[in-house]
Parts: sequence; structure tokens; C-alpha cells
Amino acid sequence: MPALGGTPHDSEPETAMTPQLESDREPCREKTQSDDAHCDESQPWSRRAFLSGTALTLCGLAAGRAEAFANLQAEAVSLGHRDAPWYPLHVPTETSADLSTLTCAPALVDMGDGTLRGVLAYNGGFPGPTWIARTGDWITVKLVNQLNEPTITHWHGLVVNYANDGGPLLEIGPGAAYDYNFQIKQRAGLNFYHPHTHMLTGKQVCLGLAGAFIVRDAEEDALALPSGAYEVPLVIRDASFDNHGNLTYNPTTSGFNGKFPLVNGTLRPTLTVDRGVYRFRVLNGANARVFRLALSNGAPFTVIGNDGGLLRAPANVTPIDLGMAERLDLLIDFSALSAGQTVSLRCLAAKWDLLQFVGTGAPGIPYAVPATLSTIAPLVGPSQPSRTFTFDGMSRINGLEYDPYRIDFRVPFGVTERWRFKTGGNAPHPVHVHGASFQVVSRTGGRGKLYPWESGWKDTVLLSDRETVDVVIRFAAYQGEYDGQYVMHCHQLEHEGMGMMTNFKVI
Ligand code: C2O
Ligand code: CU
Repeated sequence: MPALGGTPHDSEPETAMTPQLESDREPCREKTQSDDAHCDESQPWSRRAFLSGTALTLCGLAAGRAEAFANLQAEAVSLGHRDAPWYPLHVPTETSADLSTLTCAPALVDMGDGTLRGVLAYNGGFPGPTWIARTGDWITVKLVNQLNEPTITHWHGLVVNYANDGGPLLEIGPGAAYDYNFQIKQRAGLNFYHPHTHMLTGKQVCLGLAGAFIVRDAEEDALALPSGAYEVPLVIRDASFDNHGNLTYNPTTSGFNGKFPLVNGTLRPTLTVDRGVYRFRVLNGANARVFRLALSNGAPFTVIGNDGGLLRAPANVTPIDLGMAERLDLLIDFSALSAGQTVSLRCLAAKWDLLQFVGTGAPGIPYAVPATLSTIAPLVGPSQPSRTFTFDGMSRINGLEYDPYRIDFRVPFGVTERWRFKTGGNAPHPVHVHGASFQVVSRTGGRGKLYPWESGWKDTVLLSDRETVDVVIRFAAYQGEYDGQYVMHCHQLEHEGMGMMTNFKVI
């Protein structure tokens, strides 16, 4: 693994990529009726909220705090400034498999700068607590809805039966609860949880509902990877704020594009690092943004895992395009970073510094990454596609918008199939399948190749402009008219909300 050497010029202001806020500045004004009306966003993707009158109003949450708007304006200036302060990276609370209650509710959180901002949170956290469970554990948890609109939680990447999968038909109303009870039957990996509410997923995720779910197992234990303070989850997303400094959901026709990056809910985050190897568990938690990750000194990342857990072998690579809902398991060696030196994790696409690492100079723990991480047998499927799905425009798969009550296809249990994903425009479409992991076997057109971080097991694959991607998939966990019902959809959450989703059954 290449040791990463920080160089003094890494932190030179003229090369730092700071979130720019020019367009956020607007004249100071009092909150008006139309501010609240604006919260309802009578956009196509929030038509349900608009029609049902159950629109969630974060706007009301922090109303009355007269200083909030002034703070935000001051902060808008400071965040966009190259010498703006950096705030310590928040690391979400960890919870074990036996957490019994998961509550969705509005909350006020500090994103680093001391301002309290309205969000929607799981158990008060933004992001929600990081579950740490092991293969074989049972998860028995009650979801409590303290929002003023329906919600339901999906365990993205965990293979569970229909009743535990948190699909759109399982939503619960305000004040209601839902009991989950399932066993983790899969290998170690970084999964995550988020709402999957019919037509409201994008809004609820954007306003803060998401968290990491880490599964561990004996195979991973045997690698003795960096742990404790040297293993850090990084939930990366973008966000925008309303006039009160609260998170706001204001998608455009190309989806929600926030003005600021957040890592673990922290604005302009910094992490002090010792002279050793760190393991980062990275999730793209954005609604509609693909991050092009790179280190500011050009050093490669050592990728050891992705959505479905460990890769067969480590890969040194940069940059990495990480689509919405995709995950990465990365090692970075800071042994050459001396006290006070900095290096940043960047998004080259947005020209953002996402996270600044600052050397402590203190000794860390070395780690020699093994040449072989895991044994992954190739899933051998047919050479021709068993099914083809075109992701059309912003709202259709094979020409159809999602209908919660229509089953579009049936897949035989235990049979290996080859699925072909094509785009009919408006890519990128990160394609996500519930109920099984798959192996990506080819990409033609567009970028025209597969990347090292797409090897092994995946549950989400990035389908970019003009691309055709083939995956091999086998459903071998749950089946039946009830247990075996799942969805496949685009994880650009505005596309999902507008109908780019399909129901199928494993029979
Ligand atoms: Cu992350 Cu069907 O969702
Ligand atoms: Cu899409």
C-alpha cells in the first residue's frame, strides 16, 4: 500500500477547494408566509405530500429563532471563504444489534459550527446511530414514526424477507410503529438504513434520515484490520439550508443538488490522524450526486471492499466515482504525515474538499494489507441476458412508472440469471436491487469498462450515460408470494420518487 505523504503545499489556500456560497447569499429578510409555503414544494416529486397536506414542515421547527437567519448569513460568508474554520468530524453513536427502538423525529443538531439546525433524525442523530452487528445476529427493533407524515425504514444491503425489507407498501402513519425481526445471514460489509416511503424517500433522506449498518464476521476478523479510532465511517452527502439554517429539500428537475458537502453531518469537517493506517467505511448518502473521490496529494486509495463486503484482493486506485448508495471500504496510510500537515479527501467533480486530515505526528498502527482478502467464487450465469431493463428518462423502467400494486416480473428462486441494465437518457442511474447481491460482469458504451471497486459483491451499480451494464444475480434467501416480494429501482432518489422503480417476486 502506498504511504501517503502530506506536503506543505496541500493546505495552500489557492489550491483548497472550498464550498462556494455565492449563490446562497440573498438579502436579509423576515420569514414570511411564502417561506412556509415554499417548504411544501409543489414539485412533481413531492406531489403526494402536497396533495395529502401532510407535508413535513421543518420550516416551523426552528421558527422564532430570530438570530438563526443572521447566523446563517454570517456563516455563508465564512463557509465560502478559503480561510473558513474546519470543524471536528462527527462520528455517529454506535449501537449494537440489540437496539430495541428506532425513532424518526425532527431534531435540532449542531453540524459543527455551533448553530442548531433542524433535521429529521433517527434517535436524535444525524446521521443515525451506526449499527454494529455480526452475521447470525437477530435484529428485533421497533420503528416509531414521530414525523407528521408516513415513513418506513429499509435496510439497504441487508437481505431480508418482504415484511422486514421496509418497502413502500409497508409505510406507517404518524404516531404508528413497525416491528422488525430478522436474522443477518450475510457476510461482513457496510450497509445502511434509510426511509423508503412511497414518493417521500428523497425528501426524508435529504432532511436527514439515514445511518450506517456495519456487519462483521469471522473472515473479516481474521484480517485484523484497523479498528477502534482507526476505523471511521464516512457518510458523504450534500445539503442545502433554508433561511433559518435548517436542512431543506429543494430538488430541481435534475434532482436534489445541495450547495454544501457534509460528512457524517459535519460542515467542513476535519479529522486528526496519527501516523498509521486508517480504515474508512464510505457511503455516498446523497440523493442525486456522484462523488469523484481523490486525495489532494494524488495518492491512490487502497480499496479493500464495497457494497457487498471485502474484495478478493486490494486495489490501489484514484479517483473513484462513487454513485448514490454505493459503499467503499478504504485504507489510507498516514504514516508519512507529520504533525500539522494536511491532506484532503476531495470530490473532483464538485471541486469540494470533503474532509481535511491533519497529522498529529503521534505514532499510529501500521498495517500490511494482505494480497488476498477474501475468496469470492464467480457467480456463473448465462452468457445472454435473462432480462433487460431500460431506465428511461427520469421516471420509468421498461417504459413503466412504478405502481405499488403491480408485479412486473417473477424470478425463479435459486436460479442464476444475467440482468442487463440500459439507460434511455437522464443518467446517471445507480441501479439497486433488493433481496440479493449481484456480481457486475460487463459495461459497454459510456465508460466502457468495469472498475476495481465494482468487483466482488454489489447491490447498487452505477449506470452512466450511454452505458449498458450486465450483472449476474441469484436470489437464494427468501421466496414466495409474500416473503419474496422486492423492488428494484434507481437510487437517484428523485427518479425513484417519480416512478423509476419496479416490483418483482422471487418464486
Ligand atoms: Cu437504498 Cu431501495 O434502497
Ligand atoms: Cu435514475
